[in-house]
Amino acid sequence: MDKLIIKGGRRLHGEVKISGAKNSVLPLMASAILASGVSTMSNVPDLKDVETMGHLLENMGAEFSASNSSVTVDTTAMNGMTAPYHLVRTMRASVLVLGPLLARMGKAIVSLPGGCAIGARPINIHLESLQKMGADIVLEDGYVKAYASRLHGAHISFDIPTVTGTENLMMAATLADGETVIENAACEPEVVDLADSLQKMGAKIEGAGTSKIRIFGVDDLKPVSHSVIADRIETATFMVAAAITGGNLFIRGARPDDLRSVIEKLCEAGISVSDDSPDGIRVWSDGKLQAVNFKTMPYPGFPTDMQAQLMTLLSVAEGTSIITESIFENRYMHVAELDRLGAEIRVDGAVAMVKGVSRLRGAQVMATDLRASASLVLAGLVAEGKTTVCRIYHLDRGYEAIEKKLLAVGADIVREKD
Ligand code: EPZ
Repeated sequence: MDKLIIKGGRRLHGEVKISGAKNSVLPLMASAILASGVSTMSNVPDLKDVETMGHLLENMGAEFSASNSSVTVDTTAMNGMTAPYHLVRTMRASVLVLGPLLARMGKAIVSLPGGCAIGARPINIHLESLQKMGADIVLEDGYVKAYASRLHGAHISFDIPTVTGTENLMMAATLADGETVIENAACEPEVVDLADSLQKMGAKIEGAGTSKIRIFGVDDLKPVSHSVIADRIETATFMVAAAITGGNLFIRGARPDDLRSVIEKLCEAGISVSDDSPDGIRVWSDGKLQAVNFKTMPYPGFPTDMQAQLMTLLSVAEGTSIITESIFENRYMHVAELDRLGAEIRVDGAVAMVKGVSRLRGAQVMATDLRASASLVLAGLVAEGKTTVCRIYHLDRGYEAIEKKLLAVGADIVREKD
């Protein structure tokens, strides 16, 4: 297993290029199932999760190739409909093949993902909604076994605005008989990116990006060529990296409108942000940061995927911050590791109280999940001395070449084999 060795104290400066969005390319690759032929995605990040989704599609008889930030999926000879446990357990987003398989093949056998570090993460809303569209679903031997000769339109109201649930149902509804309405749909930019791509395939979709999406089923779809939007969570992570080190970064390719809640919080904490360039966002700080309170919410609220990273920033801010994690029930695994670096954070249920300290001190810490890993790297950038972040395979799932990007803007960081 690899680890990252970071020597803190360097102010980051210069320019970093943001890669394509992990949480957009994964549903986009799954949507290739909906059409027979060769679909291509560009601006694709080189991530473990992209490779895993590719293996999943190959396991169903599709052909997958990846090179130069592009992936190609050829579903012409696709004949399978199974997503096996050994792949699904490494990537929960595998559930995204469920809707497209049912719509295209009439059958899907997808391993239940099981829990993960940040919570139980059930898929009951996905399954109940597909049943409303006429799918017969049984849970057997740890698998979801779903059948539908042809899905029919339905009026669906989500109890929770689930992101992959919205994406699964939107994809399933594109080939259903009649109209499907999804109420309380997720509004994330990645949902809009998927809808844009589906429309290029011939799907009829209205309202993506709002909480009410209408999909009018068609008989078939054609393959697509689509460019993936920039990763807003990678962007926000580098914004925090500039802020926490008292540096100045231009983040090329960033989309400010995807990040209004994050920009607002960073400015409240005393960080300077300029987002009037069409090419990206500039972030700078004198390193004097103020405590802020925030609660994670569905988009456009503050993203749960940035909770750990902002917590790191607040651990060295002036004053005490109150954080409320409202999306996942166990997304504070990074707290104990940050405390090892000298942070003063106390957790009580969904609430974390972060008392800013004057400095963090380097130590060996362990990554537990993707965004927690990023928070530990950010802490290492500002901690005195050497910080070693172990088990960074978590990080490699969602950040493309993060140590190379940080090195290029002045960080003292190196990857080593464990
Ligand atoms: C997506 O996960 C993202 N993953 C997550 O990013 C992100 O944290 C999450 O949305 C919230 O924004 C991808 O897009 C691949 P949800 P998803 O369904 O769709 C509950 C990262 O770090 N729920 O919106 O799995 C669920 O337990 C990852 O990049 C049900 O109860 O999240 C959670 O409490 C982590 N039943 C809440 O809804 C369901 O059927 C939101 O989950 C579905 C969800």
